[in-house]
Amino acid sequence: MQILVTGGAGFIGTKLAEELVKRGNLVKIFDDLSSGRISNISHLIKTGAVEFIKGDIRDFSAIKEAGSGCDLIYHLAAQSLVPFSMERPDLDMEINIKGTLNVLMVAKELMSKVVFTSSSTVYGNAVRIPTPEDEVLIPYSFYGLSKMAAEHYCRIYSEHFNVPTVVLRLFNVYGPRNNKGLMIDLYRKLLRDQKRLELLGTGNQLKDYLYIDDAVEALMIAPDKAICKGETYNIGSGESFTVFQIAELMLEILGLKDVEIVARGGKAWLGDVELTRPDVSKAERELGWKAKVDIKEGLTKTLMWFEEKFGRIPGAKTLH
Ligand SMILES: NC(=O)c1ccc[n+]([C@@H]2O[C@H](COP(=O)([O-])OP(=O)(O)OC[C@H]3O[C@@H](n4cnc5c(N)ncnc54)[C@H](O)[C@@H]3O)[C@@H](O)[C@H]2O)c1
Repeated sequence: MQILVTGGAGFIGTKLAEELVKRGNLVKIFDDLSSGRISNISHLIKTGAVEFIKGDIRDFSAIKEAGSGCDLIYHLAAQSLVPFSMERPDLDMEINIKGTLNVLMVAKELMSKVVFTSSSTVYGNAVRIPTPEDEVLIPYSFYGLSKMAAEHYCRIYSEHFNVPTVVLRLFNVYGPRNNKGLMIDLYRKLLRDQKRLELLGTGNQLKDYLYIDDAVEALMIAPDKAICKGETYNIGSGESFTVFQIAELMLEILGLKDVEIVARGGKAWLGDVELTRPDVSKAERELGWKAKVDIKEGLTKTLMWFEEKFGRIPGAKTLH
């Protein structure tokens, strides 16, 4: 099968493209390389099974051309940072809403299926914990708002134009190649200072962390198992940890004993949702998907990648 992956040079897209190729598919990657890297996918391009197309998701004709011959579109290309969305809501809207609409317009012409990567941020500060998919959506950031709008575009394209769509609400995805978020922030700080580790916010933010392989497995399963009428699924581990707990576990894995963990206090960043814990039973029931990798195993693999990429933290155990 020929498959289009928008945002395929990014963190999740690269791993997804790898898996699609492994399972015998031909993949077109469409990405403007604003945060993705060609070095992430050069090994895939070399196989001949992946074609790279540099383009902007806001450019309808460019996506239309890239999509030709594709029965399935994974739409991952996005402005993916909450803080950036608070600084530039205009760009966030253009990329995340108009970009998704462009993908759906192309899918309508081609009658191809769309898998859309939404986010836990659509819930905002959810009232129901664990949070089921039918919770009222009150996003707390422009990023959450643009993802929510894009979700509805998917649903309406399914309802009125029979474009098959499925929406996966991903929680915090981490793993090798992750170049943003809590874990890389802590690793970089430890590289600079092995005595004091500063946490953003109170340290008590309690969030769901999902290992990349589990996220990609959900993406692989969804187009076949979901009804594809704009259905939404929570894709998280179902287990939440505080920032303090993640920092402590990281120090334990690295064998670093004399590090003082200090919380800076206040809000980590504008628009941050401090408590996420999804109800993941719908994905288990309807997709037959459940996260398999526990936090210690996932974090160890992530730290091994950081060690390879950024070097070993002085005084830390070698993980390789
Ligand atoms: N990583 C997470 O924890 C997480 C959680 C929830 C949802 N998501 C969503 O999953 C998707 C993938 O996330 P990721 O972590 O791999 O992010 P990422 O930033 O690594 O990947 C996004 C990719 O989109 C590309 N891109 C950005 N703007 C573009 C544009 N205008 N035109 C074409 N390409 C463009 C970037 O270059 C990048 O390669 C995104 O839609 C993101 O919002 C991620």
